[in-house]
Amino acid sequence: MSQPLDVLGGISAEQFLAEYWQKKPLLVRNALPEIAGILEPDDVMELALEENITARLIKQKDRDPNQWSVKSSPLLKADFQKMPKLWTLLVQAVDHYSFDLAELWKKFSFIPQWRRDDIMVSYAPKGGSVGKHFDFYDVFLVQGHGHRRWQLGQMCDAETDFIAGQPLKLLPEMDVHFDEVLAPGDMLYVPPGLSHYGVAEDDCLTFSFGFRMPNVADMMDRVCDKFSENPALKNPLLDIIRDQQSAIGQLTQNELEYLKEKIFEQLQNSTVIEDAIVSLISEPKYPENIPDAEEIGTGDLEDALEQGYLLMLEPASRLLYTEQDDELLFWANGESICISEQFAPYLKKLADGQAIALDETLFDQDILEDIAELMNESVIMLLPSESES
Ligand code: SIN
Ligand code: CO
Repeated sequence: MSQPLDVLGGISAEQFLAEYWQKKPLLVRNALPEIAGILEPDDVMELALEENITARLIKQKDRDPNQWSVKSSPLLKADFQKMPKLWTLLVQAVDHYSFDLAELWKKFSFIPQWRRDDIMVSYAPKGGSVGKHFDFYDVFLVQGHGHRRWQLGQMCDAETDFIAGQPLKLLPEMDVHFDEVLAPGDMLYVPPGLSHYGVAEDDCLTFSFGFRMPNVADMMDRVCDKFSENPALKNPLLDIIRDQQSAIGQLTQNELEYLKEKIFEQLQNSTVIEDAIVSLISEPKYPENIPDAEEIGTGDLEDALEQGYLLMLEPASRLLYTEQDDELLFWANGESICISEQFAPYLKKLADGQAIALDETLFDQDILEDIAELMNESVIMLLPSESES
């Protein structure tokens, strides 16, 4: 972990995590040269029109560029007619459509997979932007085509005011302390809360490698779901021991304490809490991007052994595990999953982003059954080994 990384401009992951991550921006020239050419502007236009894709077309009025409009997917060809001079097309989760892009997540393997959100691409002509704004998440902005001028300003937070009456949360001003033009392969890390403003210098594609964190409200919601699924908790509680009378309209402190205690007792059940947290975190953000699998059986897998296939994670799926006292527990796409002990070390590798060869080492009925089940649920997939990039 301590070696210098090209993607971080020659600093180590440790140094980046200690000095920059969630704190301050980092510009790296030529950090990811391999991103250039993976997608061209026309590919982004085509993707934006595909079924199930999540995209937004942002336009600024020619007469008053401070007037913005946003059209969310589904986008139609007609949405691209009569375009103003300034516009931006944003397409989410392009890593689910391009294996080459999905592979580039590996450059950021110093951040765990569960923190990943998606790779968004923006396409804009000269002058196009999404305005001055900030995000609540960490993002690595990687230039893929053309050039974009990035300005960075003050730190913002939930109290920051936005310009009223616009469909985007735009900042009225930015106190600029960074002003650089990024070329293909260049990367800018922007921590949560830092205001930023990127304006296309020419026909320009920018890829945002975004990282997410859950919020407490969503975790609490999921914890409640898990408890309310338990029929044993639906029985009314016994009354407290009543050794004295109280005013008829009052719920006494004693009674409240008793009822609160019953909730706190349940919250001590860390298995349920952990299941709730990992279920939430393993939920895919774009479940519609998970392809329907072609039904496969263990016999098909036996036939495919030694034919040069690799098993890997389906890019739109999420697979996570926890490990405690040598016990591995797995969750995929929002649900806990049960697999054989034999398959667990292999599935751990797959969750860690490794591809594994479908060869005789996997020749075991339990393992093949687990593989078939996870393939049928599109959690993992088979790829001919020569097509791995
Ligand atoms: C863009 O690529 O234009 C916007 C990305 C961002 O600001 O997060
Ligand atoms: Co942003």
